[in-house]
Amino acid sequence: MINLNKYKEIFNDSVNEYFSAIAGRIPEPLFSAMKYSLLSSGKRLRPSLVFVGAEFMNGDIEKVIPVALAMEFIHCYSLVHDDLPDMDNDSLRRGLPTTHIKYGAGMAILTGDALLNSAYEILFSACEKDSSLLKSAKIISELAGPQGMIAGQCDDISEKIKSKEDILVLYKNKTSALLKASLLSGALPFNPDENEKKSLSVFSDNIGMAFQIKDDLLEVEENTEVIGKSSESDENNNKNTLIKLIGTNKSKKLMMEFYDKSINAISCFGKRAEALTDFASIMINRIK
Ligand code: IPE
Ligand code: IPE
Ligand code: MG
Ligand code: MG
Repeated sequence: MINLNKYKEIFNDSVNEYFSAIAGRIPEPLFSAMKYSLLSSGKRLRPSLVFVGAEFMNGDIEKVIPVALAMEFIHCYSLVHDDLPDMDNDSLRRGLPTTHIKYGAGMAILTGDALLNSAYEILFSACEKDSSLLKSAKIISELAGPQGMIAGQCDDISEKIKSKEDILVLYKNKTSALLKASLLSGALPFNPDENEKKSLSVFSDNIGMAFQIKDDLLEVEENTEVIGKSSESDENNNKNTLIKLIGTNKSKKLMMEFYDKSINAISCFGKRAEALTDFASIMINRIK
């Protein structure tokens, strides 16, 4: 069985080391706001996927620690900006006041900017020492950028999302993209062949879709205390979600179809893909 706690510990030790190393070099309250946004109790799924990608290739996870840090920095920046008044306007994240509620909207924008730039600073410093990580940096920049996650966020705040098909494209960009960036950037330094790359890519596209549908389901089925964020966010923002368009039952069915597709994509690897299979199951059975 996959040991997510092991990955979480490696991530937590590394992030604490990072903040100790840069203490005193970033002005307040920016430094505190960066730590506040990062060190809260996230599930650390993206850094875990980086490590799973490396281990899938039989690689040493030490090598991709900077990649794992960068992915969580980028994820947290996306959350800080996602919660802003002009985006989802949410006041709770990971069970705590959102960054703009605690530090103000201006500081929250800068905190997101700082996390994003720090992610690339960490990545490029690592690339200088080990050029095999350049492939990771490149795929991350593509999938986190305006053709990936930011494209999804752009559609999410636009008025043009009407159909189920529109929503599925949006989910692929806003959510699958960073999960895919994580898994591929963990594997790429260890030279996967075309079949391995394709399989990991199809796996993450599909599990990302299932993950986002689960996120929407949790929002309507669970209460705020359990999920640690608003259970009325989509409703308050008048968002056209999959659940609104096709209902809860059909959404659950579709989630399972994406889950099945993710498992099929890696089944040819048998036992070697066990951690990915476990990961996929955790994604759709999670309670927060
Ligand atoms: C939340 O992601 C944002 C989505 C893409 C649905 P997570 O559910 O991984 O959030 P944390 O990191 O555990 O808070
Ligand atoms: C967040 O999507 C996606 C990104 C931040 C890229 P949502 O807005 O649906 O996620 P939550 O519910 O706020 O975590
Ligand atoms: Mg959003
Ligand atoms: Mg949101």
